[in-house]
Amino acid sequence: MQRVLTSPLFIALFAGLLAAAAAGFIAYQEFAQSRQTGADTVMTPQVHIGGPFSLIDHTGARVTDRSYGDRHLLVYFGFTYCPDVCPTDLAVMGQAVSLLDEEYPEVAEQVQPLFISVDPGRDKPPELAAYVENFHPRMVGLTGSDTEIADVASAYRVYYARQDLEDGDYLMDHSAFTYLVSPEGATIGIFRHNSTPEDVADGIRAKLGG
Ligand code: NI
Repeated sequence: MQRVLTSPLFIALFAGLLAAAAAGFIAYQEFAQSRQTGADTVMTPQVHIGGPFSLIDHTGARVTDRSYGDRHLLVYFGFTYCPDVCPTDLAVMGQAVSLLDEEYPEVAEQVQPLFISVDPGRDKPPELAAYVENFHPRMVGLTGSDTEIADVASAYRVYYARQDLEDGDYLMDHSAFTYLVSPEGATIGIFRHNSTPEDVADGIRAKLGG
């Protein structure tokens, strides 16, 4: 056991856990003061989250946070190889926008769903195009250089880290919040992992009025 505990692998894993715990604690401290408005699940950040970005969309076009006109952005960070968390959250996001499409189309047309990859080495435009179409016809996948992704993740206070597997493959650890961003670039709502489509649709309506 002694050898295991002092092995470089164990130390690396332990350091990773500490980093994740620290990131989670900081996020908790920020969100613990958040005020719930409208739907129970939409949190209002009391600190500045978000910012300008310049990325490549799933068609290969250079886009920025200003490319979506007067729409609110619904932003999620993840990666297409994610085994469970991303598909779950993106399905919820897609279903939430579909609910709005059907029942509140005037609200739905004010919302642009975005998926930003934290794995730009593997998630190129073709991979993103094939992926986002599983979730909603208007969902846009975004990627970029390592620096561009690091910058946008930092602006949104998103934690992500590569986890190498023994078979040479890897996964990405990442935080799993969904951000509702105003056309002015302010994050006005945050949804937790495990929100339901109804929660997200209601939360968007509470924030946008509809
Ligand atoms: Ni994921």
